[in-house]
Amino acid sequence: MINYKELAQKYSTPLYVYDFDYMSAQYEKLKEAFRARKSIMAFAVKSNSNLSVVKHFADLGSGADCVSIGEVRRAFLAGIPKYKIIFSGVGKSDDELREAIEKDILYINLESYAELERVEAIAKELNIAARISVRVNPNIDPKTHPYISTGLHGNKFGVDINTAKRMYIKAKNSENLDPIGIHFHIGSQLTELDPIVEASEIVADLVRSLQTLEIEIKFFDIGGGLGITYNDEVTIEPYEYAQAILSTLTALDITVICEPGRFLTANAGYFITKVLYEKENNEKRFVIVDGAMNDLLRPSLYDAYHKISVVDKESSDVTKADIVGPVCESGDFFAKDYLLPKMEHNDLLVVESAGAYGFTMASNYNTRGRSAEVALVGGEDRLIRRRESFEDLIANELDLMEK
Ligand code: LLP
Repeated sequence: MINYKELAQKYSTPLYVYDFDYMSAQYEKLKEAFRARKSIMAFAVKSNSNLSVVKHFADLGSGADCVSIGEVRRAFLAGIPKYKIIFSGVGKSDDELREAIEKDILYINLESYAELERVEAIAKELNIAARISVRVNPNIDPKTHPYISTGLHGNKFGVDINTAKRMYIKAKNSENLDPIGIHFHIGSQLTELDPIVEASEIVADLVRSLQTLEIEIKFFDIGGGLGITYNDEVTIEPYEYAQAILSTLTALDITVICEPGRFLTANAGYFITKVLYEKENNEKRFVIVDGAMNDLLRPSLYDAYHKISVVDKESSDVTKADIVGPVCESGDFFAKDYLLPKMEHNDLLVVESAGAYGFTMASNYNTRGRSAEVALVGGEDRLIRRRESFEDLIANELDLMEK
């Protein structure tokens, strides 16, 4: 049992706490599910990019899926071997591409024909053959929230099959490109297996047709997306997920790369926030807490549900309340019409499943410093990011009047 009260006293609130042992268990479960094949679990750094978290996955043998050169640098700093680092994303700058090529990472995931031409030009300047993969958009509806659905032609991600083919042919004929991978990722928080299998079949067929053109793909990158239970969602079992993917790869000698984020980190994380006060506007009850949308954006942005528990307070006498933060936006809430007992000043609430896309999506809106982050490892708590101070917030601002 996590002692939230003690943690809140020691580190103050709002506070992110991550159970590193839970992350390890999730990692091992997924890795084990793919044991029938060569595989790399490339942790999606965007889900939780604290260096200590990335380092934890590095120690477990994980690779890294990165979407900016900043994330690539984090992966290196954390000790992830370069041959397990992937760089994806729809818009990479020349500087980012150059650095990724120079750093000799496993491959760059290309998301457009234009990007392929940029990579070729930069690799030519460097007199190198850049390893690449192409992100295929298989036009499959993943049946998740539209903001985190990525595998439909209406989404900005990847390229259609025909463009992908053209890109591979161009790469094969270029001295400065080495096509070694293929990638798809149809969305996040997926709870249905069928769309994933359908996408995998389409992409595996493309690998087979590339073989007939003597283009040998070595890495089959299935993206991330495995859903987790926030409320009562029935999720896909890692073993079934792996079996279903592997069944589409018959007769292919290929290494599977998986890019899990949420599955590894979401349910390892807890966001502790303190009650400031209660108020009622006519009949409507509000519980106002010290955490806000700038700390944890998911409810405001996606209307996402997070379970919220009350620390050390038993009561059967509950009524509905909106749990809201101090930020000046009506969209600043963690939950609406949530059943809660009467709350007092300094009572603690814990927002669960906050380990993925929690801190990483935090901002300084309203000049609020971002919260501290704490790791729980084998029952011990360790500060892994200190709370931002006001001085941190203004550190990069320059005085217009100063000469
Ligand atoms: N690979 C690619 C190419 C991705 O775009 C993503 C997530 C992942 C892997 C990791 O997906 P995961 O295993 O975590 O589902 N902020 C949103 C989620 C955005 C996901 C973006 N891409 C949220 O809070 O739900």
